[in-house]
Amino acid sequence: MQDNKLKVICSLEDLCKVSYLTRKIIFKGQPGSALVFLFDGHAYSYVNHCMHMHRPLNCEEDAVFDETGKLLRCSMHGFVFDPKTGECQSPVCLGQRLQALRLQESDGILFFAEKHLVLAD
Ligand code: FES
Repeated sequence: MQDNKLKVICSLEDLCKVSYLTRKIIFKGQPGSALVFLFDGHAYSYVNHCMHMHRPLNCEEDAVFDETGKLLRCSMHGFVFDPKTGECQSPVCLGQRLQALRLQESDGILFFAEKHLVLAD
């Protein structure tokens, strides 16, 4: 059983080597996964759950960015999201957002800083 302390994700050095990574989580009692990635030199994390049809963004492909690398894209139907805000840019879900997860960095290690998040792996 984990408490409310920070939950280790990985080192920033390791995150630099990949386009994104996922971690199995339970957030607010819901099992799922979190996306974690670097964009413009900053780390971001969102619950990996597209609001369109409730699929993980990487459900069809092992990718979460579009060809430009500037937008997150759900591989199911191609809806795109601003990586910095999680806001959907596609008309059907315009204005809705991916659920952001707070991160904290200390000595090169990245942590989830969410009280209601439990690592599930
Ligand atoms: S499920 Fe994500 S775009 Fe449809």
